[in-house]
Amino acid sequence: ENHIVIMAGGIGSRFWPMSTPEYPKQFIDVMGCGKSLIQLTVERFAPLCPMENFWVVTSEKYTDIVKEQLPDLPECNILAEPTARNTAPCIAYACWKIKKQHPQANIVVTPSDALVINTGEFQRVMRCALDFTATNNSIVTIGIKPSRPETGYGYIQAAEQINGTEIYKVGAFKEKPDVETAKEYVAHGSYFWNAGIFVWNVNTITDAIRKFTPDLAAIMDEMSRDFYTAQEAGTVERLFPTCEKISIDYAVMEKAESIYTLPAEFGWSDLGSWGSLRTLLPQDEHGNAGVGNDISLHNCHNCIVHTAGEKQVVVEGLDGYIIAERNGALLVCSLKEEQNIKRFTLKH
Ligand code: GDD
Ligand code: MG
Repeated sequence: ENHIVIMAGGIGSRFWPMSTPEYPKQFIDVMGCGKSLIQLTVERFAPLCPMENFWVVTSEKYTDIVKEQLPDLPECNILAEPTARNTAPCIAYACWKIKKQHPQANIVVTPSDALVINTGEFQRVMRCALDFTATNNSIVTIGIKPSRPETGYGYIQAAEQINGTEIYKVGAFKEKPDVETAKEYVAHGSYFWNAGIFVWNVNTITDAIRKFTPDLAAIMDEMSRDFYTAQEAGTVERLFPTCEKISIDYAVMEKAESIYTLPAEFGWSDLGSWGSLRTLLPQDEHGNAGVGNDISLHNCHNCIVHTAGEKQVVVEGLDGYIIAERNGALLVCSLKEEQNIKRFTLKH
């Protein structure tokens, strides 16, 4: 039985000022297609299981936005976190909750903010990974061929191929390497980007969390006693904030042995930062991309300009810059430093 867990509690901190902690990017129509990123995510997975098997884990302050944007999702499938503890506690909460009622569940965990162009191929790949985890106690990641030494991603080294499948055993998983290491990985050829999509059966992931983060498992064991009862909200309110803040990539992926990867090409892109959005938007002959009503660029190269309002924007002589404006906030930042934007977001 397939279940889809959508992680939607991030604040999109590298996308400030378009994304803010009050209304983060997964709820925004970033591409101007009429649907938010989380709506596109649900649509992409819809053929894999009924809506009752979708779970959205998000901050309690976003639950109303989720209800409004996903009216077909049963309200009891929205799991509200009292405070953000990063993706390991988020995934643990969903998996312990599912396990209590569906002890044989086969699960895909997905971000809510990535883009996929070829939906048909995406669904084929997901079915293939789910077939594998239905009968193997393994963690399957989705590997994307890297095109640049991006430091905001996890890197997966594909080792030997599993006979008769498209799946490879993973030699090593390295989360967010420094740029020199990322360059080596890209040059090496056998490394893939981690798409942040994880496929596993519920027993594999709960066992892995128990092995590598026993404290987190203990909190979940205690929380789960009250799942599906009237006490659930109060217990989660009390215990969830005591989880250590850590991502699943550092907590489990870098340590687990039975990790596999399915290299896939379905036009994936992580809308993780301004730089990734620039590569998706139409560019002029100098590599500049812009969204806005009245933008003029002179002697500029590889810039992204993004404005939500009517503002006239003129830029002269910049190479590799982000100029973004929304809700009275203006960002001017070198693309090379874009991983630092989150430091400023957190202050707002
Ligand atoms: N519910 C909940 N709670 N969701 C969260 C939380 C949280 O505390 N923190 C993040 N999320 C959600 C985000 O909204 C996003 O959809 C997803 O979890 C991944 O979190 P990010 O913060 O975007 O992670 P990342 O981009 O730094 O890194 C991950 O994704 C990369 C690919 O996009 C890692 O898995 C990398 O290895 C991977 O390459
Ligand atoms: Mg991300």
